[in-house]
Amino acid sequence: MTATDIRTAAIARALFAARFGADAVGTWSAPGRVNLIGEHTDYNDGFVLPFAIQHRTHVALAPRADGVFRVRVASTFDDATVEVALDDLDEIFPAQRDDVPEWARYPLGVAWALLAASGTDPRAVTGVDLAFASDVPVGAGLSSSAAIEGATAVALADTWGISLDRVALAKVGRRAENEAVGAPTGIMDQMASLLGRADAAIFLDCRSLDAQVIDLGFADAGLELVVIDTGVKHSHATGGYGERRAACERGAAALGVPALRDVSVDDLPRLAELVDDVTYRRVRHVVTENQRVLDTVRTLREQGPTAIGDLLVASHASMRDDFEISVPELDTAVEAALAAGAVGARMTGGGFGGAAIALVAHDKVLAVTDAATAAFAAAGFAAPTIFTVTPSAGAARD
Ligand code: GLA
Repeated sequence: MTATDIRTAAIARALFAARFGADAVGTWSAPGRVNLIGEHTDYNDGFVLPFAIQHRTHVALAPRADGVFRVRVASTFDDATVEVALDDLDEIFPAQRDDVPEWARYPLGVAWALLAASGTDPRAVTGVDLAFASDVPVGAGLSSSAAIEGATAVALADTWGISLDRVALAKVGRRAENEAVGAPTGIMDQMASLLGRADAAIFLDCRSLDAQVIDLGFADAGLELVVIDTGVKHSHATGGYGERRAACERGAAALGVPALRDVSVDDLPRLAELVDDVTYRRVRHVVTENQRVLDTVRTLREQGPTAIGDLLVASHASMRDDFEISVPELDTAVEAALAAGAVGARMTGGGFGGAAIALVAHDKVLAVTDAATAAFAAAGFAAPTIFTVTPSAGAARD
């Protein structure tokens, strides 16, 4: 555990003691993620290449000593402790989810989806108390939500003796996000948080859910992965994300295929005859992005990370121009990083705000940081938060 992990886990334990008047039996944690490439491809059955980062959410947990079949959740984000009966979860989700504060829908949604996925009777498990603390930046597009889901899933599965594998736990997290929170997202973030490995990315086929560990070799190549958090907040439960997903489904339907995974660059001219220009460009992003993921994996294997810069830049252009999910702050971050000598840069995550990433040689990290900060000031944007991330291990008991 890093010093930050030790501190954050201690905060979770202290919150547990303060809210529940007892000691937790342990802490579990799961990381946020950066997506290296492959954006809005996951719910199109396509390819993604994310990695888990060193920022983690920790949960302190203890089974309830009083034999009551209830779950209580507490978080440093909110003064209120939320309590529900385990056998009410089925009524709350999804129909009455609005009765639960939004942050609590993530852990309670995982409890609900975990019991359902494993066919466990809520009366056959013990009541539990959970207290969360996190150092994953919220709203930065680094999947703070998948970190909560992953930590909750491994903690509850251990405590309740539920032996689902990591892919099944990722599906539990996605179901919580889709149905308990109401964000129509794919499975990339949960897979990255549960399967992450140090120094490696996860090359995921989102149709088969086959996951391969791909060495990144950033350190050996003298590279750092710099995150430029624009501070522009986004929510995938509302607006643009769902609209993009709907456009992708329209495109697949027009071509008569189950998902855009089944469309190649060669099919695009035919599609242009069938759909409007906006739908066409949405599809073109997904189809070309899938190819860029495959090209990135091949390039990493054959030439190493210094050679992937152009693919990152092309990915950003496609999201800016065809998928239209970038914002001026993200474009500014990418342009400033490239002008200051980054190997490559792109926005990461669902878009409409959040963070950009830049792959940068060690000796240029300060120049990139200064350039992004100066460009934001010149454009009249609030100062970005800039830090480096390290590909890290996935969810585990601490
Ligand atoms: C969000 C979603 C993911 C994925 C990305 C875009 O992070 O949670 O499932 O769709 O956006 O690539």
